[in-house]
Amino acid sequence: MSQEKVIVLDFGGQYNQLIARRVRECNIYCEVHPYQTPVDKIREMSPKGIIFTGGPNSAYLDESPVCSKEIFELGIPILGICYGSQVMAHLLGGSVKTAPTSEYGKTEVTVDAESKLFDGVHPNTICWMSHTDYIEKAPDGFHITGRTPVCPVAAMECPQRGLYATQFHPEVMHTAEGQKMLSNFVYKICGCTGDWKMDSFVEKTIQEIREKVGDGKVLCALSGGVDSSVAAVILAKAVGKQLTCVFVDHGLLRKNEGDEVEAVFGPEGPYNLNFIRVNAQERFYKKLAGIEEPETKRKVIGEEFIRVFEEEAKKIGAVDYLVQGTIYPDVIESGLGKSATIKSHHNVGGLPDYVDFKEIVEPLRLLFKDEVRQAGRELGIPEHLVSRQPFPGPGLGIRIIGEVTAEKVKIVQDADAIYREEIANAGLDKVISQYFAALTNMRSVGVMGDGRTYDYAVALRAVTTTDFMTAECAEIPFEVLQRVMNRVVNEVKGVNRVVYDLTSKPPGTIELE
Ligand code: XMP
Repeated sequence: MSQEKVIVLDFGGQYNQLIARRVRECNIYCEVHPYQTPVDKIREMSPKGIIFTGGPNSAYLDESPVCSKEIFELGIPILGICYGSQVMAHLLGGSVKTAPTSEYGKTEVTVDAESKLFDGVHPNTICWMSHTDYIEKAPDGFHITGRTPVCPVAAMECPQRGLYATQFHPEVMHTAEGQKMLSNFVYKICGCTGDWKMDSFVEKTIQEIREKVGDGKVLCALSGGVDSSVAAVILAKAVGKQLTCVFVDHGLLRKNEGDEVEAVFGPEGPYNLNFIRVNAQERFYKKLAGIEEPETKRKVIGEEFIRVFEEEAKKIGAVDYLVQGTIYPDVIESGLGKSATIKSHHNVGGLPDYVDFKEIVEPLRLLFKDEVRQAGRELGIPEHLVSRQPFPGPGLGIRIIGEVTAEKVKIVQDADAIYREEIANAGLDKVISQYFAALTNMRSVGVMGDGRTYDYAVALRAVTTTDFMTAECAEIPFEVLQRVMNRVVNEVKGVNRVVYDLTSKPPGTIELE
């Protein structure tokens, strides 16, 4: 019996794999294909439905990516999202223009409850908008099923032809009933029955790694964060002692973190791993001296990491594979697909052109953070490790704006330790997805005792998110923020001011660099 499948046509937006993953959550197999995929090939795949993704272009420009118009004649239901909705409108004779008012962020959309897409959805529902163009006029035969005060066609459909479109993004968590809409599309419009259960990702991956690696030697870049820890334990299960984990203390870790990682994964820990700790603080500080530009910092840190691994690999001898805990948002935000580059995540875009390993193995490359945590639980990794907040590969290097120095690292480590302690004391550590202190490059005048100070401002950041692709500022009670501020200015030398970053993502990012 053939398996039901929905395909996502990728027009270069940020959320392409996320759409596929949301469809998989509905128990329907889903994969992403490029927008240029020939219509004949799509017909051969016989999908039950097709989803057009968003993208950064303007559908009415000649050079913009569009698919063949024949796709609308296949008789397969199509859902166009954001740019995908504009492609549908443009190709079918509607009008797409630059919107007089762009819409970004949470927006109340009035939807037509009669539409199958919005079955069971509240008539005024919160949706995530992110667009500068809009559909000014729907194509003939379509009717409008969603509106906002500034967007005349926030959703449209032609049910007779199975064509549906939303200007907003149902796939992101900030669209309150987005999962319901996607589920309506695949079940009520495409007629899927939900015949796919997520294979045990872990088992499949372990098997694939065994086949790939054979009896080769493997080196794993272990940072102690959730991603690399899960990657290391998967590898350990797959190839046992053929694996050596190298933990580089680059001097950009949180306070005491080096020792904590060693306690869990080192010789005294429960995993019986070959574990090497490399203390490379000075080496990294030297490389980073005088560098202020964020992308350059990321690349320098990424490259130095690889060099350290290569050296360790040479000491071990005949190492073929390098394992990294890269996850999907790292890949997409580094711009390796067709999406715009946001920043070079250190595991991906930060890699030097030449890497002295036969191959890099990234078993988590297609997973999102919460899927990685789920995989970690399946592997029996303790909950406190699995649910810990993420920490970026370049570490405090991207939480210190401007040049990194040992003195600044100490300031941000101390401030961050206080912040984390107070967040935990307030019982907020389980409800905030990621929180940390960063060091702004700003110094300002203050007064302490009877003396003038001219010191740094620490920025506190805290966000809630599930997928880390979009995020909102966490609402921390004022008295908690005040307690942190008091402790930081009193206990951390070199700081006389504390600010709280209120920005969501977009337009900000979670890290400051
Ligand atoms: P941004 O700042 O891009 O962060 O909104 C999204 C998530 O990714 C983490 N992050 C990184 N993780 N290497 C990593 O392994 C990196 O270079 C990197 N940069 C950001 C960030 O902490 C957040 O969880």
